[in-house]
Amino acid sequence: MLKKLAAVVGLLMVCVSAWALTDKQYSEVESRIQPAGKVCLQGDSSCGAAVAAAGGAAKSGEDVYKSSCLGCHAGGAGGAPKLGDAADWKARTAKGMDKVYSNAINGFSNIGMMPAKGLCMSCSDDEVMAAVDYMIENSK
Ligand code: HEC
Repeated sequence: MLKKLAAVVGLLMVCVSAWALTDKQYSEVESRIQPAGKVCLQGDSSCGAAVAAAGGAAKSGEDVYKSSCLGCHAGGAGGAPKLGDAADWKARTAKGMDKVYSNAINGFSNIGMMPAKGLCMSCSDDEVMAAVDYMIENSK
């Protein structure tokens, strides 16, 4: 499937004129390459839904957690709320999820240092929020 798509996209690039593509193929290709080319403006909460609906090009919360957050949040380094620590997360979500999300996206320091986006600079806001959701979901 991916190979096929890559071939089609490759063809598209080589042949600047989209000769042999039917309208249906063309719109299929267009809809598949859209998420990567679509700019998600910061603070636009509709982006997550759009990306997910278009085929899930965004990294999952679990992926982001494992690649960017686990280092501190698995062991609680520097006072980071640990994955699985229901009490710690409850105290944090009590102030409202908006604040928790923005703290994760922008970074903050209260007792320790939470770097902006957990240092995942290539992560979109939505991906960081998905990672927050993942941690909270697994800390109940
Ligand atoms: C370098 C270590 C480090 C990394 C990497 C890191 N965090 Fe944190 N995080 C912290 C620390 C420390 C705190 C607690 C800060 C405090 O309370 O002063 C924290 C707190 C948080 C909180 C609680 C916010 C609140 O309002 O209390 C969230 C949510 C969070 N991190 C999400 C993430 C996500 C998502 C990632 C990965 C994309 C991530 N963190 C990566 C260290 C880290």
